[in-house]
Amino acid sequence: MEHQKALERVVARLADTMPTIGLRNPKIGGEGDRWHFCNPGDWVISFHSGQLWLAYQLTGDVAFRNAAQARRPDFRYILEHRKVRDHDLGFQFSLHSVADWQMTGDREARAMALEAAGLLLARFREEGGYIQAWNPTGTVDRDRAAYVNGRMIADCIQNLALLYWAHRETAIEDFRIVADAHAETSRRYLVREDGTSFHTYLFDPASGAPLKGQTHQGYRDGSCWSRGQAWLLHGFAQCHAATGNAAYLETARALAAATERLMGDATVPVWDFSVPDNEPRPLDSSAGAIMSAGLYILAAALEGAEAQRWRRLADRLLDGLLDQCDLTTVPDAQGLLAHGAAHVRAGQTDAMLPYGDYYFMEALMRSLGHTRFFW
Ligand code: GLY
Repeated sequence: MEHQKALERVVARLADTMPTIGLRNPKIGGEGDRWHFCNPGDWVISFHSGQLWLAYQLTGDVAFRNAAQARRPDFRYILEHRKVRDHDLGFQFSLHSVADWQMTGDREARAMALEAAGLLLARFREEGGYIQAWNPTGTVDRDRAAYVNGRMIADCIQNLALLYWAHRETAIEDFRIVADAHAETSRRYLVREDGTSFHTYLFDPASGAPLKGQTHQGYRDGSCWSRGQAWLLHGFAQCHAATGNAAYLETARALAAATERLMGDATVPVWDFSVPDNEPRPLDSSAGAIMSAGLYILAAALEGAEAQRWRRLADRLLDGLLDQCDLTTVPDAQGLLAHGAAHVRAGQTDAMLPYGDYYFMEALMRSLGHTRFFW
C-alpha cells in the first residue's frame, strides 16, 4: 500500500513539474531541490523521458507521451554528432526511442533505436572482447582519456539491453554476439571472486591482454563503488532475463550476496563500500534505487526461499529510500530522491539525480508487480 501511494506521488510530481521543466532534461539537482539541465548528448539525457514513458504506461495520459516524444530532436542530435556519442547509447535509446516504439508503434523511433544499436555495436573491441566506454577527451579530462581504447566500465552492462532488443527485433546475430561477449568479459574481469566489483578494467588496447582493475568514480582502485556494484547487479539480472543464460543469473546472485553483506544494517548504501568508518561517508540514493530494482528482477527469476531473500532486500532498500530520501512529500522539490552521489571526488554529492529518480520509479513499479519496462 505504501509503495502504491509513493508511486502515485511520483506520477503526480512528474505531472506537476511538466510546465516548469518543459523540454529540458534534468542532469543534477541544485539549490532548493531544483534541477540543473543537460547539455546536448549528456549521458543522463534519457532518464526523465524514461519516467515520462512509465507514467504514460500507468495512466494513459497523452500529456506524458507528448512530453517524451517532443524530446526526439535531442536523440536525433546524438545520432548526428559523433563526438557526443559513447557507450551510453544504450541508456539513452532504450529509455527514449525503444520506449516510444514499444508504447506507440512509431516506426521512426524504432529506426532511431536500431541506428543507435548499430553505433553501439561498432564500439566493440574484438581483441579484448568488450565495448569501449569512452572517447579521447584531449586535455579536458586526462583521467578519463587515459587508456581510452583499452577500458571497459561496469556501467556499460546496462547498455547491453539495447543490443539484445535489436537482436530480437532484427534477428541480426551480431547484436547478441557482441552483447554476450561484453557480458562475459564483465563477469571475468569486473566481478571479483567475492562478488564485489571493480569500476573499470584496463586492457592492452593493441593485444587485448587484461591489465588491471581501476576506479574512476570510486574511493580507490580496489574498492567497491556502490553504483558500479548496482549497475552490475541490475545489469546481470537483466541480461539473464533477456537471454536465459544461467551464468548471468549466477553472477547476479553473487553480486546480490556481496551487496547484502556490505550493506550490513544500512538501508541506503554509502557511496563506496570501502570507505573507512572514520572518513566522511555520504550516501548514494541512486545506487540504492538501482540495486532495489535489480533485486526485484533477480527475485522474479528464482523461487522459494532465495526469491524471498532477494525480495526482502529489495524491499529494505526501497523502504530506506522512502524513509530517508523521498522528496515526493516535499512540496517544492522538482525531483523524487535526495542524497544522490554523482561523483564524490569531484564534489558532486547530496544531490537529486535523474537516474536515481528513474530507477526509484522502476523499483516501485517492480515491487507492485509491474513487468513492462523498456530494457
Ligand atoms: N554512468 C556514470 C555514472 O554512474 O555516474
